[in-house]
Amino acid sequence: MESPAEKGASLFTLHCASCHGDNGKLGASGAKDLTMSTLTDRQVLHILKQGKNAMPPMSTILENKENMELVIQHIKTLRK
Ligand code: HEC
Repeated sequence: MESPAEKGASLFTLHCASCHGDNGKLGASGAKDLTMSTLTDRQVLHILKQGKNAMPPMSTILENKENMELVIQHIKTLRK
């Protein structure tokens, strides 16, 4: 059984790392450096639901709000 933190990390690896990199800094396809991000949880949730420019909406892929929250908690651990 994965802990919430582990689940957030594996969801990120599966669905986000191709553009953002495991450390958040890859920047593929113009992806923003997540270590430099200053967005609030609400703002990130909005981007996950709607997508932004080259980033597609992630809500279907992440399936539910709980998974979105786990990924949001994970990306905050990548910040400096
Ligand atoms: C197909 C590539 C791609 C994938 C997959 C992707 N992103 Fe992005 N992401 C981008 C791009 C491109 C931007 C920049 C959008 C813009 O502002 O123009 C971005 C921006 C963001 C931002 C905004 C950062 C800021 O401070 O402005 C967050 C947060 C983010 N992505 C999180 C995620 C998460 C979490 C996932 C996985 C669920 C994910 N992304 C998957 C390409 C991607």
